[in-house]
Amino acid sequence: MVGGLSIAVALVATAIGPPALAADLEAGRRKAEPCAACHGRDGNATIPGTPSLAGQPVYFTHWQLIKYRDGRRKDPVMAPFAAILSDADMADLSAYYAAQRPKRRPAVTDPARVAAGRPLADLHHCTSCHRPGLVGQEQAARLAGQDFDYLLRLLRAFKARTASDLDGTMTVATQPLTDDEIDAEGAGLAGAGRRPQRVYCALAARGSLSRTRRRASCRAMMRRRCRVVKV
Ligand code: HEC
Ligand code: HEC
Repeated sequence: MVGGLSIAVALVATAIGPPALAADLEAGRRKAEPCAACHGRDGNATIPGTPSLAGQPVYFTHWQLIKYRDGRRKDPVMAPFAAILSDADMADLSAYYAAQRPKRRPAVTDPARVAAGRPLADLHHCTSCHRPGLVGQEQAARLAGQDFDYLLRLLRAFKARTASDLDGTMTVATQPLTDDEIDAEGAGLAGAGRRPQRVYCALAARGSLSRTRRRASCRAMMRRRCRVVKV
């Protein structure tokens, strides 16, 4: 996958999209019962290192489940649960979790690091895909209020090129981050509240993508919901 990074980002919103199935929220609630022990009944997990699913965009959750099922995302805990899900199960579960109200996970970090992390999310144009307020959209995850240990683990793995993101987008996005910045960034995300921030799209921020690619991928991700502040 890493070898294909250069073209990967431009493909984000064009080549992929989960199957469009009519979802059934009530069926989703029932199907989520085996998941509750780890992810919480309403998708708000309390176990450190286990991600909350409440409020995640439908497409994001659906894609992660497909990736666990087909082995592109490897996790010994999740694999057996995803293996037995049909596409319709995944659609129902994703719709159910998207409809649940996310609760912020307890902050485990000091306020100074949270404050240091916030501007980095803009500087590294995380907010252009994950939305101002980091609430997620389409196949980009909701990050606001997510578990700190989980965020840190994923960011480190993306940077080390060992996490299997769908199209290499996150592997690219994390390359410019230093280890200290990843710590601060994780703290900033975990501490981010629900209040929307300024609509912001820092396309001109330094990064590893060419300017044209940043513009193309950001435009695709934002689907015109982004007011381009700097290009
Ligand atoms: C025994 C505990 C456990 C159970 C039960 C469980 N999960 Fe998970 N789940 C995890 C852990 C741990 C992770 C993080 C794994 C990783 O790092 O890839 C995870 C990750 C996920 C993710 C990715 C979230 C993200 O933000 O990337 C989704 C989606 C998910 N689980 C859905 C489900 C669904 C749906 C069920 C029930 C059918 C379920 N899980 C059952 C422990 C569990
Ligand atoms: C060009 C769009 C884009 C940019 C820029 C971007 N992301 Fe992402 N991010 C995504 C997508 C898409 C995913 C889902 C990847 C997958 O698993 O396939 C994701 C996933 C993640 C995840 C995993 C969440 C989970 O619950 O599994 C984290 C953490 C994350 N991004 C943090 C960041 C941070 C921090 C930045 C800025 C340094 C950033 N992202 C920049 C698109 C982007």
